[in-house]
Amino acid sequence: MLPACQDGSMEAVNLDAMLARFTEHWLPKRIARINDYDVRIVKIQGDFTWHKHDETDEFFLVLTGELTIQLRDRDVVLAPRELFVVPRGVEHCPRADTETAVLLFEPSSVINTGDAGGELTAEVQELA
Ligand code: NI
Repeated sequence: MLPACQDGSMEAVNLDAMLARFTEHWLPKRIARINDYDVRIVKIQGDFTWHKHDETDEFFLVLTGELTIQLRDRDVVLAPRELFVVPRGVEHCPRADTETAVLLFEPSSVINTGDAGGELTAEVQELA
C-alpha cells in the first residue's frame, strides 16, 4: 500500500490499524507524505545508536509505551500523546525499556541513523 496522499486514494489512515500490521523493531514505516515530508511510524525496544541530523530537526510523538530520548546533557522522557523535537545537529539516542510505538515527522530524505550509519540503518518501508 502506498502512503496516503501518494496513491491518490484519499482514504483515512488509522494509526491502530497501521500499527497492527507489523511487529519488527527499529524499522520505520511510511504511512503518509506531506510535500517532501514523511509521516512514519516505528516500534522500538532497547537502545538505538547515538547520532545527529545536521540538516533537519526530528519530530517524535509517542503513541504507546514510553520513549526516552537521551541527549548528551539530559534525558527527555515521553509518555503517550507527548511529543518532542530534536533540533538539527543535536546528538540523540532513543531508548525504550518496553515496546513503544512512535510517530515521526521528517523529510523523506532523512536516514534513521543520521550521521552514525551502522547496522541499525534502515530504509523506510511502505506498509504492504
Ligand atoms: Ni534521529
